[in-house]
Amino acid sequence: MFEKKIYIERRNYLKNKFKSGLIIFLGNDESPINYSGNTYNFRQDSSFLYYFGLNIPNLIGVIDIDENKEYLFGYEYTLSDIVWMGKQPTLKELADRVGVELSESISNAKKFFQKKIKSKAKFHFLPTYRAEQNLKLAELLNENPFKIKSKSSKKLVEIVVEQRSVKSSEEISEIEYALEIAYQMHLTAMQMAKPGIIERDIMAALQGIAYSIGNGFSFQPIISKNGQILHNHYYENQLKEGDLLVCDAGAESYRFYASDITRTIPVGGKFSSIQKDIYEIVLTAQKNAINAIKPGAKYIDVHLIAAKIIAAGLIQLGIMKGNPSDAVKNGAHALFFPHGLGHMLGLDVHDMEALGEDYVGYDKNTKRSNQFGLSYLRFAKELKPGYVLTVEPGIYFIPELINQWMSKNKLKNFINYDKLEAFKDFGGIRIEDNVLVTETGHKVLGRLIPKEAKDVEEIVKGESV
Ligand code: GLY
Repeated sequence: MFEKKIYIERRNYLKNKFKSGLIIFLGNDESPINYSGNTYNFRQDSSFLYYFGLNIPNLIGVIDIDENKEYLFGYEYTLSDIVWMGKQPTLKELADRVGVELSESISNAKKFFQKKIKSKAKFHFLPTYRAEQNLKLAELLNENPFKIKSKSSKKLVEIVVEQRSVKSSEEISEIEYALEIAYQMHLTAMQMAKPGIIERDIMAALQGIAYSIGNGFSFQPIISKNGQILHNHYYENQLKEGDLLVCDAGAESYRFYASDITRTIPVGGKFSSIQKDIYEIVLTAQKNAINAIKPGAKYIDVHLIAAKIIAAGLIQLGIMKGNPSDAVKNGAHALFFPHGLGHMLGLDVHDMEALGEDYVGYDKNTKRSNQFGLSYLRFAKELKPGYVLTVEPGIYFIPELINQWMSKNKLKNFINYDKLEAFKDFGGIRIEDNVLVTETGHKVLGRLIPKEAKDVEEIVKGESV
């Protein structure tokens, strides 16, 4: 946790934006795997962490604007709990850690909210994303659990997004720590990428690092020779010389901030000539995109810079044809780069996605495109100092997508379909870093994780670390 004054200041900022009502932050509960006592690793809700800091299940934080009071509702541990779990802090001690004056047993929460309902108080809460949160909130507020999400407060979402989007120096340090873990993970993946190894061996080694010096993975990693499958969580393939291994993995710091890094590794330590050509296009797109990041720039324009470099590179290789700007305007590059350039990063790897992607990445001046590829761009709006984003262009050869476009001769003026048969087992290449928008430009966060083709090759071959 940070020191308590940080949580007090964050809540004060929020309070000042509301004239009346109660703001409710529902913490997460334990989530069972196969019976109630055997649970997944507990992860607190990120907005709860932001305002109330405590990574403990069954908590509700309430800011009562009308009466200018703050409450922490939670479970008071009994002696028999302590027999199984060891000594636990009291609710009052927990509340004190985050500067909240009033603490109440969760068993009194229903009575508390019923009284507020009678006095016609207005409730402000964030959209829920777990079924048990729907049930709990609906029970407390006399609402239908199937409809409770739609009653969430747009105003609260907008203020929380505005506040959480701009990272403080303490938050940047946390992300940099998560990146130090990612550095160790990705160096290890490169060193392990030898013919004969199974993807799951690398995954397990990376998980060990993520848990030994941090709080585990920040998301289920992608460690696959089938990098053309964008969110591939299958790890059973045995790697052979010449495979391209996409390793998209990040970790959580002890205070739950995320890193999210991708490197593409030539198994055995040598990119083939065509792999290297395509790798260089992705790397050039990534570097140019990073260089375009500054306050006032729109991220959709940064995305389009990367898209044009990808189109130009593929035209040079004879895979695409025509003019790169026209190709991108028509969406032809999306056959090979079908996702967005990146997303915000913070307490969530896709920061605040639970609050609604459009609230985070779009605004009244930037509407989401419905063009294939561009429509997946999670963040498009104008950049401000303090934002942290991933920059992760890629080139993929997805056989099913190629077949579908080819069958319709889609955008045939920009694509040399006769060249594509040879690429159907190519896989994919993605390169990703995490970038802070500064007052004057940008800063790539963390220690440089090698990404020049020859540096990656040397590490795989064991020639440098
Ligand atoms: N790094 C995985 C993702 O952004 O979805």
